[in-house]
Amino acid sequence: LNYNVNRERRYILEVLFNGLRRLEYRGYDSAGISIDSSFSRDPNTPSPISPPPLVFRQEGNIESLVKSVYQDVALTDINLEESFSIHSGIAHTRWATHGEPAPRNSHPQTSGAGNDFLVVHNGVITNYEVLKETLVRHGFTFESETDTEVIPKLAKFVFDKANEGDGDQNVTFSQVVLEVMRHLEGAYALIFKSRHYPNELIACKRGSPLVLGVKELTEDMSIGASFHDVKHLSKEGHPKELFLSSDAHALVEHTKKVLVIEDGEVVHLKDGGVSILKFDNDKGKHSGGLSRPASVQRALSVLEMEVEQINKGKYEHYMQKEIHEQPESLTTTMRGRLIRGGSCKAKTVLLGGLKDHLKTIRRSRRIVFIGCGTSYNAALAARPILEELSGIPVTMEIASDLLDRQGPIYREDTAVFVSQSGETADTLLALQYALENGALCVGITNTVGSAIARNTHCGVHINAGCEIGVASTKAYTSQIVVMAMLALAIGDDTISSQGRREAIIDGLFDLPNKVREVLKLDQEMKDLAKLLIAEQSLLVFGRGYNYATALEGALKVKEVALMHSEGILAGEMKHGPLALVDENLPIVVIATRDACFSKQQSVIQQLHARKGRLIVMCSKGDAMSVCAGGSCRVIEVPQVEDCLQPVVNVVPLQLLAYHLTVIRGYNVDQPRNLAKSVTTQ
Ligand code: G6P
Repeated sequence: LNYNVNRERRYILEVLFNGLRRLEYRGYDSAGISIDSSFSRDPNTPSPISPPPLVFRQEGNIESLVKSVYQDVALTDINLEESFSIHSGIAHTRWATHGEPAPRNSHPQTSGAGNDFLVVHNGVITNYEVLKETLVRHGFTFESETDTEVIPKLAKFVFDKANEGDGDQNVTFSQVVLEVMRHLEGAYALIFKSRHYPNELIACKRGSPLVLGVKELTEDMSIGASFHDVKHLSKEGHPKELFLSSDAHALVEHTKKVLVIEDGEVVHLKDGGVSILKFDNDKGKHSGGLSRPASVQRALSVLEMEVEQINKGKYEHYMQKEIHEQPESLTTTMRGRLIRGGSCKAKTVLLGGLKDHLKTIRRSRRIVFIGCGTSYNAALAARPILEELSGIPVTMEIASDLLDRQGPIYREDTAVFVSQSGETADTLLALQYALENGALCVGITNTVGSAIARNTHCGVHINAGCEIGVASTKAYTSQIVVMAMLALAIGDDTISSQGRREAIIDGLFDLPNKVREVLKLDQEMKDLAKLLIAEQSLLVFGRGYNYATALEGALKVKEVALMHSEGILAGEMKHGPLALVDENLPIVVIATRDACFSKQQSVIQQLHARKGRLIVMCSKGDAMSVCAGGSCRVIEVPQVEDCLQPVVNVVPLQLLAYHLTVIRGYNVDQPRNLAKSVTTQ
């Protein structure tokens, strides 16, 4: 970028912009940034407090923000030789909940002219209307429709009140934030910046995720003790960079040393040092006034994430990369967990995260799967094998629906929470609900250290590697594999079930090869996508193990290709969907070999009889027989053990959705209106 911006300023901006680029999959309708003004270094403008920080906000994606900031900074950055010994900046990319995407609704939200307090927020403040009314009564005017705007304004209110009278600064930055937190209801991760506290940032959280990254501290150093430790290190020539982010993707290129911030903790970055305070929200409420939090000291943990994992590599899009890396991600998911051979030749499964709880799970009255979107579909795909091998009734809950109904959850239940991110607000709230009701809670997530991983009693990480494309692909197949292994781990190893168990384990070992084989359909799916490019709608029929495949295939087409698509339980066809069938509407029928095969053959016949436009997915070698009696296009896939077939069958549909999107000219990694990690309800 050829703007006249000094090197140091450019470095600060690029660190913030790159962080946003890494987080863009969480929201991408508008973005904003705040950095210190270089006027603060100008000796000709002495001032009792720092000059207002610069704030830039822009509708659209990160790159439109980048362009406008460089243009503006080049104009306003008068001191091109300036050097920052310390600088604290904040930035945000937004997924709109309250208020349309527009600069005024973007973050940082501000306390008003002068930018006394600036806030970036992930989450939703549920009592913002009450707070807004109060602040308006005290003379504040609001310019956005966001829930967030009350936060910086409340901070200014608290600050001004504490400093009334003597004109001195009687309150610390963390005291201001603690007092603000006392009034906030809902979910949030917040970072505050203030012109009254230059070179300081405060971050806090409740419900929404927040990670601190520390660069250039010695390995064994724990943090949070006092500012003194860090200053000492600085003097010894260990300059630091400290990072706060909603997730670790934004940090990994800078550092792998992180601290996952807990609810109620307040992180204070000051003059390059860190301290952490723990705030007990309830105690604060009763005591009135500023609360006295305890200081926290914890060891840093090391991220198991490589920068390469979050790059596109040779692929054009993340979704494409993630579809094609499924043979590898599945291998990683199973690594060390499947045992075959040895002296006794036994084939078995080891899930370390469950070993102390397997007995309790086996004794449970039922197993309840809880999740949203693709994660729910993955659980649905695994339900039949879990029922078969465990003999325990398995029920399904969409997290938001369980909460809406306040459905029954009992102490004798095992509740399994499935979530790629481990942070989905609906799933997290359902987890709290299940914990309150005394169920044993198991987490299946792809994110070590996520809220669901931390708050469940036990669980299994799917180890699929970072998934960045908003539409989940490799996490889906790894989730199914983990749940198939869960079924094997829970199920009794009886003589009568031995053959079946061993066939599944053999099938799991061979699954990456079969997925490699099915990926060869890429060009065929591209050709099919070209045929379907102008369609308005696509139906996908499945049943048994592949009812979930129908739902998931349709979800992929819907979310990225922006084409209406519906997954239909084939057994329900004659109870409604048949009315839609004509020679124009494309219908995918999944009819691979399993116990439902003959029923699916008769579904195909009934669709032929109504001149349906069919695309049939069948096992290799079945093309002629499935299409007898009418014309159809065929997708032939390798046959695997029936309960693993959904892993193979979903791949052509992922490829179809991908190509359809690219050919239709839409953004495949950032579909309209969606976000990958929905941390608000
Ligand atoms: C969002 C995403 C979906 C995802 C769902 C559940 O809606 O756009 O792709 O399946 O959340 O996410 P989770 O992280 O809990 O699996």
